[in-house]
Amino acid sequence: MLLGSLFALLVAGSLASAQDYTADHNTTSIVGTWSSGTQNVVPGPGFANPAQETFTYPKASGVGYSFSDNGWYELARFRYVGNSSHPECIVGTVVWAHGNYDLLDNGSIILTPIGDGYQQVQSPCNKDNTNFIQDYNVTEMYASWRIFTDVTFGPKLHLFQFDGSPVAPLFRLSDQPNMLPQQKLRNNQVQVVTTTSAGFVTTETIVSKRKEARHEVQRRGWGSLWPVW
Ligand SMILES: *[C@@H]1O[C@H](CO)[C@@H](O)[C@H](O)[C@H]1NC(C)=O
Ligand SMILES: *[C@@H]1O[C@H](CO)[C@@H](O)[C@H](O)[C@H]1NC(C)=O
Ligand SMILES: *[C@@H]1O[C@H](CO)[C@@H](O)[C@H](O)[C@H]1NC(C)=O
Ligand SMILES: *[C@@H]1O[C@H](CO)[C@@H](O)[C@H](O)[C@H]1NC(C)=O
Repeated sequence: MLLGSLFALLVAGSLASAQDYTADHNTTSIVGTWSSGTQNVVPGPGFANPAQETFTYPKASGVGYSFSDNGWYELARFRYVGNSSHPECIVGTVVWAHGNYDLLDNGSIILTPIGDGYQQVQSPCNKDNTNFIQDYNVTEMYASWRIFTDVTFGPKLHLFQFDGSPVAPLFRLSDQPNMLPQQKLRNNQVQVVTTTSAGFVTTETIVSKRKEARHEVQRRGWGSLWPVW
């Protein structure tokens, strides 16, 4: 009898463990505003102005995510990627995107952008273009996520990649999501997808309003640029 109910408990526990969003998995809800490191990179109007394709540069590099209770997320990222053989060729990137997130039953989280994201790349050694704006529409999927409560810093969100390694921990700045309106905020385009020799999937974008060509970089081919911050 006792053994039987113990067994039932164990079975229930192991069956539930994959999608078990108990206090053990997340000590608080994921809804809110989260930021890594020195917590200078915060999504919302203080970071990006998509209609103008501008950014307000944070004081330090890092990444921030906001999650709403109706399934919307916003990403803000500012990072440098060094070049050990040419230290002067450090590449700086600021990224903004937003869209829908899903907490999958198997514990994974997927962030699907709606296509109005953009990034500014500053690449001092790129002879063709040292400073440019591109479309940025990268779907992010993490194998799992957890929220611990740190005695000093409070709730801390960890996103784990498929190789099991955690990305930089995200500290909770607020239990409210700081974000721009949940709709398309940049007016981009008609697109033709091509693959370049470098393995990048690029999307030629015709911005009719300005009659200028843009390129969209998708995740494939990013290798060393992903996800360093
Ligand atoms: C953990 O996350 C799940 C899924 O969003 C949610 O249903 C649950 O309420 C959260 N737990 C806590 C303690 O906030
Ligand atoms: C952005 O990516 C999402 C997810 O892959 C896709 O559904 C959407 O069509 C893309 N939008 C653009 C403008 O490429
Ligand atoms: C480092 O910079 C040099 C000079 O611009 C460039 O040729 C090289 O590809 C860069 N290396 C990396 C890893 O980005
Ligand atoms: C969870 O399910 C998604 C969608 O089926 C899949 O792509 C992902 O690899 C799964 N995650 C894990 C950790 O197996």
